[in-house]
Amino acid sequence: MKNNNGAIFWFTGLSGSGKTTLASAVAEKLKNNNINVYLLDGDVLRTGLCCDLSFGDKDRKENIRRAGEVAKLFMNEGYLVLCTFISPFSSDRETIRASCPTGKFHEIYISTPIEECERRDPKGLYAKARKGIIPNFTGIDSPYESTATPDLEIDTTCLSVDEAALKFITHFELAIAEL
Ligand code: PPS
Ligand code: MG
Repeated sequence: MKNNNGAIFWFTGLSGSGKTTLASAVAEKLKNNNINVYLLDGDVLRTGLCCDLSFGDKDRKENIRRAGEVAKLFMNEGYLVLCTFISPFSSDRETIRASCPTGKFHEIYISTPIEECERRDPKGLYAKARKGIIPNFTGIDSPYESTATPDLEIDTTCLSVDEAALKFITHFELAIAEL
C-alpha cells in the first residue's frame, strides 16, 4: 500500500512528555505497513535548519513556522508526517492547522504532567533549568499553552510505549486508512 494523500500529525507537549518516543514507535509500526512516514523532531531541526533560533518566545514561534512549512512539503508529497515539537503556543499550532486543507492536520496533546516529566528528566534538562543553568525552560520559566480540544490527548504517565502507540493508531485508524 502506498499513501498518496499525506497528512500531518502534530505532537505537542512538555519536554520529557513522550512526544519523540511515542511518534518513533508509531512511525515504526506504520512503516511496517508500507506507509510512507516522515518524522520531524524538534531536537533534530534545532541542530540544522533551526540552529540559529533560541528558546525565546519569538524564536520558538519562528521555529514552529519553519517546522510547519517543512511538514507541509512532505505532506504534499504524500507522506504521513509525524511532527514532535513542544510548540508551546496554541496560536502557532492553529496557524498551521488553518494553512492545511481541512482534516489534514491532527493535533495530539501529550498531556503528561510536569511532575512526571521532571521525574523522568531523560536529558537532565529540568535539573539544569531548576538551577538556572538553562533559562526559558518550558513549564518552569517559559509558558506552555495546552489545547482545549486536541484531536487526541495521551498522558503517557501510566502507559507503556506500545499501549500509547496502540491508542494513537486505534484513534486515527480511519484517517490513516484514507492515506
Ligand atoms: S519549541 O518550543 O517547540 O520551539 O521547542 P522544540 O523545537 O520542540 O525543542 C525542544 C527540545 O529542545 C531541548 N531544549 C529545551 N526545551 C524547552 N525549553 C528549553 N529552554 C530548552 N532548551 C533545550 C529539549 O531537548 C527539547 O526536546 P524534548 O524532546 O521536547 O524534550
Ligand atoms: Mg523529543
